[in-house]
Amino acid sequence: MTEAELYSVYKGVFVPTHLHPAESLKYCEEFSFRPDDILIVTYPKSGTTWMQEVVPLIVSEGDMTPVLTVPNWDRVPWLEEHRAIVLSLEQRPSPRIFATHFHHRMMNESYFTIKPRVLYVMRNPKDVFTSSFHYYGMASYLVNPGTQDEFMEKFLDGNIMFGSWFDHVKGWLTAEDESILYMFYEEMIADLKGSVEKIAQFLGKSLKPDVTEKIADHCVFKNMKQNKMSNFSLVPEEYMDQKKSEFLRKGIAGDWKNLFTEAQEQRFDAVYKDKMQDVKFRFPWD
Ligand code: A3P
Repeated sequence: MTEAELYSVYKGVFVPTHLHPAESLKYCEEFSFRPDDILIVTYPKSGTTWMQEVVPLIVSEGDMTPVLTVPNWDRVPWLEEHRAIVLSLEQRPSPRIFATHFHHRMMNESYFTIKPRVLYVMRNPKDVFTSSFHYYGMASYLVNPGTQDEFMEKFLDGNIMFGSWFDHVKGWLTAEDESILYMFYEEMIADLKGSVEKIAQFLGKSLKPDVTEKIADHCVFKNMKQNKMSNFSLVPEEYMDQKKSEFLRKGIAGDWKNLFTEAQEQRFDAVYKDKMQDVKFRFPWD
């Protein structure tokens, strides 16, 4: 199926209509934030699901109940997804934890007035591409990626869900503000315990060392992959065919090296250099 059949255009970017019907986007536009809300913001495939595990465990100070009993999409709902409407988010006790794939410029008026806390997670775009290529091949609500070359052109032009990775990252980096903590997938891979401590500190939580240890141990890829509430195995096969590719697929940094040809690497690097030339921020993959 084509983009015209599967996607809607919202604030200039494609969104899969199945996940984000018009009434959900309206709900999100009118949503009222609280100052102690916690928002996990990502470009898709940058570590959203991982954070949906880590952050509730920090807030619960290591109590495993939320992550072992509630699916990630209800535990940390996406504000722009259809589930948000049915979950009575207004009634949730503070601190509420949400996810969103919105660009900074797409956030609603309440966000800019209230300025809730944001954890913005970035990942090497070549790995985002690699993860997306597999994901677009297994999810029926997304347009089939076609060949790697075809999908790369779409990715580099931002003609995929939630638009351009470059615009997303640049927009949130420009928003720099003390209410935003910038995190990298790669730093979580390198030091999960240190990352848990850093996030806890940002959220004003002081965790005992054994609690930090317990959270990091549960959230390491091979352990988290076993959690039925987080590995998307509860999603029917007609939407996600995990026989084609698992949602928690490899969970490593640098998998792009197993996928890209030399020509694709050069093409990606050239576009990256051009689009990121005005960005001063230093990334772990530079
Ligand atoms: P791969 O496809 O490269 O394995 P998102 O949740 O934003 O859609 O991102 C999904 C990516 O994050 C997938 O990457 C997935 O495997 C990875 N991921 C999820 N949980 C993880 C964990 N605990 N450790 C490392 N990577 C994880």
